[in-house]
Amino acid sequence: MGSLIVDTPVAIGRISDHGAQVLQWQPSGAEPVIWLSSHAVFARDVAIRGGVPICFPWFGAGRSGAMSPAHGFARLVTWPCTATTEQDGTVTVVHVLTQEQAVDPQFPYCYRMTSSASFGDELTLTLLVENTDATPFSFEVALHTYLAVGDASSVSIVGLEGAEYHDKLLDRHVVQAGPVTFDGEVDRVYSSTSDVILRDPALARSVTIAKSGSASTIVWNPWVDKSRAMADFGDEEWRDMVCVETGNVGDRAITLHPGEAHEMKVIVSVSSHRPSS
Ligand code: BG6
Repeated sequence: MGSLIVDTPVAIGRISDHGAQVLQWQPSGAEPVIWLSSHAVFARDVAIRGGVPICFPWFGAGRSGAMSPAHGFARLVTWPCTATTEQDGTVTVVHVLTQEQAVDPQFPYCYRMTSSASFGDELTLTLLVENTDATPFSFEVALHTYLAVGDASSVSIVGLEGAEYHDKLLDRHVVQAGPVTFDGEVDRVYSSTSDVILRDPALARSVTIAKSGSASTIVWNPWVDKSRAMADFGDEEWRDMVCVETGNVGDRAITLHPGEAHEMKVIVSVSSHRPSS
């Protein structure tokens, strides 16, 4: 399983061919922005815990609730790397996945996915899905971004106020009042096209997640018990991460007719609140 390391005056990053998964990114001078578990497993057919998994063609157990593997097959397979370019210290890595590399009887279509990850003073992720089949298909998709935080119990997320969400833990629909905060397990799918800002007082910084082509934002933190239950997740690591995922899931799934394409884009940026010395 190959991975490419970026180390320029602008940014440090790493991306694996396994799932075309970003594993690391931090602009020069910043602490890591993308989180990777110290218990992550790097093996065939195993999802890497952390980074930015690409969920496709379904999210979780899918709209039927019966799909497997969780979050689809795209994060479990090797994506051929088709291009690597560098400009002014920003490195862009392109991976392409088609039915020739990954097929599943639950998604029996010809498709082409192009993932582009640019590691610079921002992290820009673009995912293009094309229908190369002769029949229409529908899919769910998400860039499952694990963000590194100083202390999950003190962060807040702004930008989702007033958005309706499906609380997956309680299986009920709720409208968000005020910023999102964490004092227990959180697993929510918001209907929202808005950008969000993660405020992190412990690291004295804010992380902005700007997006386009996405009508869902998923917020997840496993908290104490679920962390202990996951073999590839440290018992205390729930404090170190928060997932703010950009996608089109549930009733926001995308339908493409033959020849059509859909693009989703995420731009992650960080601003420090510390006075510069
Ligand atoms: C989130 C889901 O996106 O991913 C959660 O909303 C899930 O329900 C989490 O637990 C992690 O999923 P996985 O398959 O990587 O363990």
